Amino acid sequence: MTRQPAPCSSSNTNRRDFLKTTSSTLAAAGALAGGLSIGRSAHAAGDDLLRVGLIGCGGRGTGAAINALGADKNCKLVAMADAFPDRLQSSLAGLKKRAPDQVAVDADHCFVGFDAGEKLIHSGVDVVLLAEPPHFRPMHLKAAIEAGKHVFCEKPVAVDAPGVRSVLATAEEAKKKNLNIVSGLCWRYDKGVQETMKRVLDGAIGDIKSIQETYLTGTVWHRARQPGWTEMFYQMRNWYYFSWLSGDFNNEQAVHSLDKASWAMHDEPPVVAWGLGGRLVRTDPEYGDIYDHHAVVYEYANGVHVHAYCRQMAGCFSDVTDLFAGTKGSANILKNSIKGENKWRYRGPKPSMYDLEHQALFGAIRSGQTINNGVYMARSTMLAILGRMVNYTGQKLTWDRALNSQQTLAPTTYAFDATPPIVPDKDGKYPIALPGITKFV
Ligand SMILES: NC(=O)c1ccc[n+]([C@@H]2O[C@H](COP(=O)([O-])OP(=O)(O)OC[C@H]3O[C@@H](n4cnc5c(N)ncnc54)[C@H](O)[C@@H]3O)[C@@H](O)[C@H]2O)c1
Repeated sequence: MTRQPAPCSSSNTNRRDFLKTTSSTLAAAGALAGGLSIGRSAHAAGDDLLRVGLIGCGGRGTGAAINALGADKNCKLVAMADAFPDRLQSSLAGLKKRAPDQVAVDADHCFVGFDAGEKLIHSGVDVVLLAEPPHFRPMHLKAAIEAGKHVFCEKPVAVDAPGVRSVLATAEEAKKKNLNIVSGLCWRYDKGVQETMKRVLDGAIGDIKSIQETYLTGTVWHRARQPGWTEMFYQMRNWYYFSWLSGDFNNEQAVHSLDKASWAMHDEPPVVAWGLGGRLVRTDPEYGDIYDHHAVVYEYANGVHVHAYCRQMAGCFSDVTDLFAGTKGSANILKNSIKGENKWRYRGPKPSMYDLEHQALFGAIRSGQTINNGVYMARSTMLAILGRMVNYTGQKLTWDRALNSQQTLAPTTYAFDATPPIVPDKDGKYPIALPGITKFV
């Protein structure tokens, strides 16, 4: 029988412990014993240099580092962490070429393995950029805020309800400590989207009656299994296709769309959700256990329904649109346009939203103000997780029940020779969630 990834018996204690107990971490080059060079010396010099550390040195992490370095000319990238040394080193090489004066990552500040993030957080940085797979985000965010760091936090922020609850608690801690958490839900920082949403929230389309969100795209990368890779190594290389690491693609990608809908609903959660989804084309075991299409209806207390569709299939109609229908008109958010009684279109400048996120973060740090995007980034992530839950189980679920789910998608041990939360059967097939059979936990 196929089923949802086994709810792991590991507790929050295990999740915390992962940061401390994993045995697989190595310093990428040089020895940790070499000491903490640039961070400490900058502190000692008493200057106003901001030391930045990057956790997750892939495409987005590298991009986020460039955005950060561009946002504040008196910041330096001084530490990097990744599960894999090759990913770290290729990112570092690219960043050095791009911003040679602002990249000063010594060998003893290159951390690799499962506990690389924790080591980076304690390596003398002031600001941490989180761009690793979402499974690890709640733990790294918690560790960073506990250690008194400002954080840029990519989306989505968790893969399960315990992770979302952890992020909400950490966001509260950040408030108490006046630490910044800027979310990578980047459309909230886009000028055209901000202006359009402001008008929607001010009533330009009247009362919102329904919202349609589409995130219909082609496929993404896949890394072929190599001889000698353990199962954990394979899943980590292909984290996108494993629900315990990515949360499924409706979380990993379509959270952007759910976030805009949630913004329009004043970030109040829906009452219930139901939906349907499955794997029609991406059925080969190489694509892990995630679905390739999801359709979810979120029902709000005021009667509004958010209809959210996402698909990842080659050769199909593609569309990423947010359509809001109201009593006085409609809004197309990414087109920055409003139709109806208050017809309007944004025609202002369009600076990069990725740069703007980092300008906001560093501006707040420098001015002593605090940005805390914690609640909305956690709620938007929970919308996606709720969507996955209703589709995997085939049930209609309330927000409250889903948010209080005890299902933790985590291995008991974080190590490349440890057993991941799901493993293939003798034919190499992973367990896939089956609506009506898979149980809500
Ligand atoms: N806001 C946006 O527009 C946007 C765009 C792209 C990606 N993202 C988000 O950024 C995140 C990363 O996406 P990506 O496209 O860069 O993926 P990627 O695979 O290119 O990069 C992820 C990196 O994290 C590393 N990693 C894995 N486990 C780790 C761990 N425990 N500690 C440290 N590093 C670890 C991987 O080895 C990899 O190098 C995702 O959550 C994604 O949703 C956001």
